[in-house]
Order: sequence, then structure tokens, then C-alpha cells
Amino acid sequence: MKWRAKKRRSAPARERSMAWTLAEILSATGGTVEREGKAKMIGDIVTDSAQVKKGSIFVALKGARLDGHQFIGVAVRRGAACIIAHQATTARGATVVRVRDTLRALGDLGHYRREKLAPTVLAITGSNGKTTTKEMLAAILEEAILGGQRLRGRVLKTEGNFNNRIGLPRTLLRLTPRHKVAVVELGTSEPGEIARLREIADPDFAIITSVAAAHLEGLNSLAGVAREKGALYRNLRGGATIAVNLDDPWVKQLGRASKQRKITYGARGAVRARAVSLRHGGGMEFTLEARGQRCRIRLNYVGRHNVTNALGAAALALAAGVKLSAIRRGLEKAQPFAMRMQVSRWRGATILNDAYNANPASMKAALTTVAEIANGGQRIAVLGDMFELGKQSRREHETLGQIVARTRIDRAYLLGKQAPAVRKAALRAGMKAENVFVGKNHADIAAKLRGEFGAGDAILVKGSRGMAMEKVLEELKR
Ligand SMILES: Nc1ncnc2c1ncn2[C@@H]1O[C@H](COP(=O)(O)OP(=O)(O)O)[C@@H](O)[C@H]1O
Ligand SMILES: [Mg+2]
Repeated sequence: MKWRAKKRRSAPARERSMAWTLAEILSATGGTVEREGKAKMIGDIVTDSAQVKKGSIFVALKGARLDGHQFIGVAVRRGAACIIAHQATTARGATVVRVRDTLRALGDLGHYRREKLAPTVLAITGSNGKTTTKEMLAAILEEAILGGQRLRGRVLKTEGNFNNRIGLPRTLLRLTPRHKVAVVELGTSEPGEIARLREIADPDFAIITSVAAAHLEGLNSLAGVAREKGALYRNLRGGATIAVNLDDPWVKQLGRASKQRKITYGARGAVRARAVSLRHGGGMEFTLEARGQRCRIRLNYVGRHNVTNALGAAALALAAGVKLSAIRRGLEKAQPFAMRMQVSRWRGATILNDAYNANPASMKAALTTVAEIANGGQRIAVLGDMFELGKQSRREHETLGQIVARTRIDRAYLLGKQAPAVRKAALRAGMKAENVFVGKNHADIAAKLRGEFGAGDAILVKGSRGMAMEKVLEELKR
């Protein structure tokens, strides 16, 4: 009888039931009560003191610049009912829970919520394609029926790049009983991070999209990146399934080493793409083949790498029990974000705005795409430096110069500290000096580019976030 009454609770009551009790906080974090306050915990767990409301639980995180412990007073004044800290604090009025490490405690709380509500969790990591795969997978799940239930409106997904030890728990803490599935992105910049994020998310399904040179500052080498990402395929809960990209040699190897149940994708995988072509007006088209079934899919994303991302999302969805028809609907609805291979037209030219970020693998993918899209017109690349490459930076930029030449880019416009090195390598690989321009700033590049392109040309704009290469387009259109 009790159970029945529970099932009939109204929505607000259900939301309220998500409030934390002190016992739950202690059980989740292994912390101890340093001081017991009277205020009732009715609110969310927050890490920004400015977002504290009456009844909130404030976790004092220590960041690179700021230490949340210095904002405990502010949090209490704003009405925090509970403070979670790893230093002695005097927070008059609020309950104080002392833990060894607040960052760890935040993860533990996210994990607790995940285990308590027990949605199906699908986790995504990889050097490139995480966010795209996540968006595609979430779009598929929105179209799906699982266990007899429509998932529309019941899919939680990582927003933006909330993919680290703060972002992932915050995402999981947004779970409510309404959510049946959660699609989460896991990112890493130092060894051990993925293992911890995997522990927090405890996924039922996991995918490593690719292993490539990114974040080399923290992870050192490609083998280091593989070891780090590989943590997502290890120590998963029993019965968990991994999707393995057979077209990526590192991922293939990691998949082979994993004892989990598997679904493969790629040219020789169980989930494959045939007859891949560019759609007129932007996007890709391909035939998805899986389990003896096939269907034609029209993506709103350009580039072959996005077909690979779509295959990864499809493979994971299939493993979870989603039908091919829902996979097709979801993939066709998914839309790229601004500045991620965003296609537009301007003065008859096709502009590929991929200025959101860059690393060697994504540069290569984007240059290959612009070469395909140009289809007879000029291939133009406006490129800014790639950051976070550590000691390999010079060499990677020289390789970039070679790739620019090899993908037969007609004109390159370069910006950044490494631009001269890119140029030199491009010239050595056969480009003519007059076709490789190093600009002083965005406006300089725009001014030069303005008279040098026309209808039918394809222009790629890309660089690391800090290079803000989209400003070249803004200047150009001014
Ligand atoms: N599978 C892939 N292989 C290589 N490059 C890719 C792949 N998927 C995406 N990219 C490139 O990486 C950029 C970022 O994609 P995104 O999905 O946001 O990746 P992430 O979340 O891993 O940073 C894209 O704009 C594209 O240039
Ligand atoms: Mg991302």
C-alpha cells in the first residue's frame, strides 16, 4: 500500500523528494558532521556561492584561482543550510559536513544520485567527437522507446562541455525521477581523470570515439592518451556494453583488451556506413547497415568524421535496444552547434566555421572536408594556432603545414605564434609563397581574404578557442 501511495505522488512532491537528507550526504561522501545546524536542506547542491538560495547545500571547491572555502560566509548569509568543506570552518547557523576532499565529495554526491535514480547511463569520451556524438545519441534517444516507454522528455544530457570532475557531477545532480536515460560526456586533461569520471557515472554503455593528439601537455604521448581514455572500457559494471570504433587503431586495441560486451562500428564493424556522399547545401548522406538491416540517413553535419560519430551513436543506441527507425529520425534531427563545422553561404562561397576549437586530428578532418566541399572551386583555409600541445607544439604545427599542402589547399591564411612554422612547412611541401599568408591579426587576414575569394569557393575557418578565429568572419562581413 505504501508503495502505491508513493507512485501517485504529484510532480512537485516528487521534485521535493529529491531534497537531500543529512544521512544521505554522509552516506554518499563518507564525511562527518562538524556542526549541526537547524536550517532545513531543501535546495540543490551548488558550488558557486552566488547561486546559493535558502536551503542550498554549498560545496566549497578549491580551484586554481579561487578557493570556495573563502566564500562559506557568503553562502551562509545567502541561506545555505549545509556546507561541505575540507577545512575547519565556522559557519554559524548551517550544518557543516567535513570531508577529506570536496572535489571528490561532489563526485560522490553525483554518483549517489545516479545510483539512487538508476537511469540507463551512456558515457562518451575520446579525443575528438565527444560532444557531437553526445548530441546525436541524445537526439536518437529522444525518438526511442525503451522497455515499452517513450523516452521523449526523459533524456538528460551533458550541457556544453560540462565533462570534468565538476561538470559531470553537476550533470548527474540534475537527474530527477523523470529521467530514464542520461548521456554524459567525459573529458580529461590529466592521467586518472577518466577512471574517476567512469566511477562517478558508472555507465551501462560506453564509447571512446577516438584517440588522437590532444591535451598532450597533461597526457604526454598518444600511448598516454590511449591509456587514459582506455579507462572507460575497464572496470565497468557487469553487463555493460562498449562500442568500439574499428577504424581507429588505438580504440580497436583498447576494445580488444576489454572484457566487456562489445558492439563494433566502422568499415569492418557490425555497424557500417555505405555510399557516403555530400548532400547538396551542406551535410552528409549515407546508408547505415546493421544487423542485416539498412536505411539511408541524411545528416545535418558535414565531413566524413561526422559519419563516424553518427555510427558510434547508432552503435551504442542499437546496443541499448533502440530500433533503426528511431536511430534514423534522431540522427536526421540532430544539429551541429555554432562554430562546429557550421556550414553557411556568403557571396556564393561555402563557409565552414569550425572556429570552436582545434587540435591536430580535428584540423586534418576539417581540411579534408573543405577539400571535398570545394568541388572545383578554390580551397581556402583560415587557420589559427592549436593550443595545449606542450613540447610537441612546433612539430604538430609543421605537420599541419604539410597537411595544408597535401590536401591541396589553394590559399592559406595563418594567424598565431606558430603561423610562421606552419607556413614554412607548407612551402617546403610544395605550396607557393604567394598562396600562404601570415596575418598580424584577424582584421589583417580579413582584409587580405576579401579580394581573394569568389562564388564556388570553400573557406574553412578554424583554430583553438583562444584564437577566436570567428573574428575573421566578423571582420570580413563588416
Ligand atoms: N571523429 C572525429 N575525428 C576527428 N575530428 C573530429 C571528429 N569529430 C569531430 N571532430 C572535430 O573536432 C571538433 C570538435 O568536435 P566535438 O564533437 O565538439 O568534439 P569534443 O567534444 O571531443 O571536443 C569538430 O568541429 C571537428 O572539427
Ligand atoms: Mg566537447
